[in-house]
Amino acid sequence: MKSVKDLMMRQPDEIKGEKLYEGKAKALYRTPVDGVMLMEFKDDATAFDGKKKGTIVEKGYFNAKISAILLRYLEECGIQTHFIDQMAERYHLVSELDMLSVEVVMRNIAAGSLARRLGFEEGQVMAYPILEFYYKDDALSDPWLNASHIKAMDLATDDEVLCLEEKGRQVNEYLQRFLQPRGLQLVDFKLEFGRDSEGVLILGDEITPDTCRFWDVGSGDKLDKDRFRQDLGDVEDAYKEVLRRVSQEVPLCG
Ligand code: TMP
Ligand code: ASP
Repeated sequence: MKSVKDLMMRQPDEIKGEKLYEGKAKALYRTPVDGVMLMEFKDDATAFDGKKKGTIVEKGYFNAKISAILLRYLEECGIQTHFIDQMAERYHLVSELDMLSVEVVMRNIAAGSLARRLGFEEGQVMAYPILEFYYKDDALSDPWLNASHIKAMDLATDDEVLCLEEKGRQVNEYLQRFLQPRGLQLVDFKLEFGRDSEGVLILGDEITPDTCRFWDVGSGDKLDKDRFRQDLGDVEDAYKEVLRRVSQEVPLCG
């Protein structure tokens, strides 16, 4: 097997090489093609740093499809991503990246830890989208970071930090343009980036109801992992509804 085309003609189990990573929501495997990885989307879910554990039926199926649609769309907008193609129902072929240990969170509306930390009322619209960095470290519970922490800890260069800020804001604009006409308010979301073999920062990971907060534009109903975190019920239905909406063909606004 030499190319992505060869990989796409096989079943995921036939091309699964060494497992490089397994987390709660995803696993990552080598494939026989250099620089191409297989990402598996799982049904397991955790919240509150793993204190709450569970399974969301068919989450892997919904998330693989939702993320494929959103990453493809971002590629069309000119944002380079690791996404190559979807395989079977729960797998993506992705390019190999050297992932940064920094998460980029964008927030348009107060919710979650922002509401808790700074005392905003949930639902308060931010006058300017807030960009935050977090350190990916389970033992430290993914603490908040600023640019000087990133520099001091050598997690990224100054230019890379600027690039993360620029891309975080661009992705926020593009995603809102896509989601708003589909009746989804983008409250906040988390992105992860990695360096390709030439050192260029590329968007990796996933964009799904696990990593974003989506509220119904009309009712404000939560259509994301907060339904699991907060025991709101109808968790699977929310993921299914997000997939239905992002699959809709509607004109872009803005
Ligand atoms: P937070 O309000 O808990 O800080 O989360 C902000 C956004 O980032 C929310 O959309 C969920 C997402 N997120 C992740 O994808 N992974 C994480 O580990 C955390 C803490 C948040
Ligand atoms: N995924 C994280 C955890 O496992 C945080 C979250 O999504 O709430 O705790």
